[in-house]
Amino acid sequence: MMSMMTNAPAIVTTPEELRRHMGRWKAAGETSALVPTMGALHEGHLSLVRLGRAEARRVIASIFVNPTQFGPGEDYESYPRQMEDDRQKLASEGCDLIYAPRAQTMYPEGAATSVHVDGPLTQCLCGLSRPHHFAGVATIVTKLLVHTAPDIAIFGEKDYQQLQVIRRLVTDLGLPVRILGGPIMRDEEGLALSSRNAYLSEEQLAIARSLNKEMRRTAARIAGGVDISEALEDAEQVLLRGGFDRIDYLEARDAATLEPVSRPGKGQARLFAAVFLGSTRLIDNMPVA
Ligand code: PAF
Repeated sequence: MMSMMTNAPAIVTTPEELRRHMGRWKAAGETSALVPTMGALHEGHLSLVRLGRAEARRVIASIFVNPTQFGPGEDYESYPRQMEDDRQKLASEGCDLIYAPRAQTMYPEGAATSVHVDGPLTQCLCGLSRPHHFAGVATIVTKLLVHTAPDIAIFGEKDYQQLQVIRRLVTDLGLPVRILGGPIMRDEEGLALSSRNAYLSEEQLAIARSLNKEMRRTAARIAGGVDISEALEDAEQVLLRGGFDRIDYLEARDAATLEPVSRPGKGQARLFAAVFLGSTRLIDNMPVA
């Protein structure tokens, strides 16, 4: 039986079509919010769409699996692509338009321009283990912002480092857009929602769910005065004993600058983790409060 899709958002694939829609809305004095995604949408993305609807009259979701932010051997080819399913979810949240450009639109023949955010924000955490990742993100987000020219763009705090990198590039390039971060959405056991959770077996899911618990315990210990490096080392051991295959990083850093912190300050420290279960890499972060 065919499912009915009420008010399904139109899908546009070129900057020209996109500008026609945006131009009509701007002419009518309507504000707009962009929610950039790579598809495989879950409640985390949909919460950003809802935030967009609360902040602006029109919401555009972009869906583009961006090749330049994946490293060699990462999951670019296998990354889930499910446009019709995504469209239904966006329809149910009242999203107005989907921008799903083709790869050759975003990276035309001979493309030679990229955006690099240098400095401490990209030289730590995911920037070390995925060396080209943030240049890929910065490049595609800049293109999406230029094509869409929204009033607001919304990114999840699950990718907290990405959010800080995007704030930096928007400030540095003077782009006329307000960047908003949306809170991390978690399942009933606290696992941060991620499209990559779909790669996990039942057994791996159970292990994955222990990450946030151990991070919360560690954040509380640090806030309670336990030495940071001691608390982090303990937590690594707990995670490895609990079944994680590898810890990429587990660190406490300043929430704004991402500089390392050796002592908890005034609510500024944040805990960041990237861990492997098999070949699946999971990330999470939370404040040390
Ligand atoms: O967070 C993501 O899904 C991606 O990194 C983004 C921001 C859509 C850029 O491809």
